Amino acid sequence: SPSDPDLVERARAAKEKLGDKVFVLGHHYQRDEVIQFADVTGDSFKLARDAAARPQAEYIVFCGVHFMAESADILTGDDQKVVLPDLAAGCSMADMATAEQVAECWDVLTEAGIAEQVVPVSYMNSSADIKAFTGKHGGTICTSSNARRALDWAFEQGEKVLFLPDQHLGRNTAVRDMGMSLEDCVVYNPHKPNGGLTADELRAAKMILWRGHCSVHGRFSLDSVEDVRERIPGVNVLVHPECRHEVVAAADYVGSTEYIIKTLEAAPAGSKWAIGTELNLVRRLANRFASEGKEIVFLDKTVCFCSTMNRIDLPHLVWALESLAEGNLVNRIEVDKETEAFAKLALERMLALP
Ligand code: 13P
Ligand code: SF4
Repeated sequence: SPSDPDLVERARAAKEKLGDKVFVLGHHYQRDEVIQFADVTGDSFKLARDAAARPQAEYIVFCGVHFMAESADILTGDDQKVVLPDLAAGCSMADMATAEQVAECWDVLTEAGIAEQVVPVSYMNSSADIKAFTGKHGGTICTSSNARRALDWAFEQGEKVLFLPDQHLGRNTAVRDMGMSLEDCVVYNPHKPNGGLTADELRAAKMILWRGHCSVHGRFSLDSVEDVRERIPGVNVLVHPECRHEVVAAADYVGSTEYIIKTLEAAPAGSKWAIGTELNLVRRLANRFASEGKEIVFLDKTVCFCSTMNRIDLPHLVWALESLAEGNLVNRIEVDKETEAFAKLALERMLALP
């Protein structure tokens, strides 16, 4: 739907008043009405890297979800304040691994006598606490655009990986990209005693996958892929690696949101694409590339927005920008110093990956 012209004008005026004091970051899943005000757009890796690109900006307004704003706070200077326009914009996947659960898991690995061989690799989609746990135990953060390199690095440090919290990204990277077998992977269920695994199963595994997932990407099924191939002969299926393994195995291309955009930019006129990721992004790309004769459809028949990404709407952005322009710091995301130090270690290991 087109943005309310009054709100657009107010956002523009507040941003102009703030000038260089504000830097607005926007994840690709944000609504069109919000993304038009982003100084930088990107996938979660690019946004983490670029968060520190404007050290002179006093305020970093993060149009995305909570874990992204936390990461921006960790990676920017102490005098820079990160603002999330709606504090309820979380990520259900990140919530699937709490600090207590992960500490308990580490005890289970210790009991099984394998903790010393295990290197934690945590997906960016996790709380600052989980990132700190990862840094403390010699591990790294990864995103969907560098998961392969993060795992290669981790297997140089140890024999096994504990992958948190997205089982699908972990499994897809290990099996599709690195040639491991499904049997090399076990799933640790934090709601069961000992993760639902025996000590022998843990000892035999190479990849210990946390039982987390993204409910948005979980909606795509093998049926969606088979269906679209039937409906649109010659279609290329391009999906995000948070999709289930059978979906990724049946797809033609797999990658992060930034990869999805680059792939479509490079696609020839007349090509057809079915995209398995969040709907705001797919609609934006379908509109953008229609004039170049590229046909882009959503992979599933039902709609599939990320409800928490969608919480950041134009009214919330206007409220945040106008508050800052009036000198009121609202909705600050601030990670405590001790957590920050260890989480930063893990994030910097990611940024240093080859
Ligand atoms: P990207 O890093 O690919 O943008 O993914 C972030 C995310 O939350 C996907 O659900
Ligand atoms: Fe989290 Fe999934 Fe939304 Fe990404 S799309 S922010 S993983 S709930």
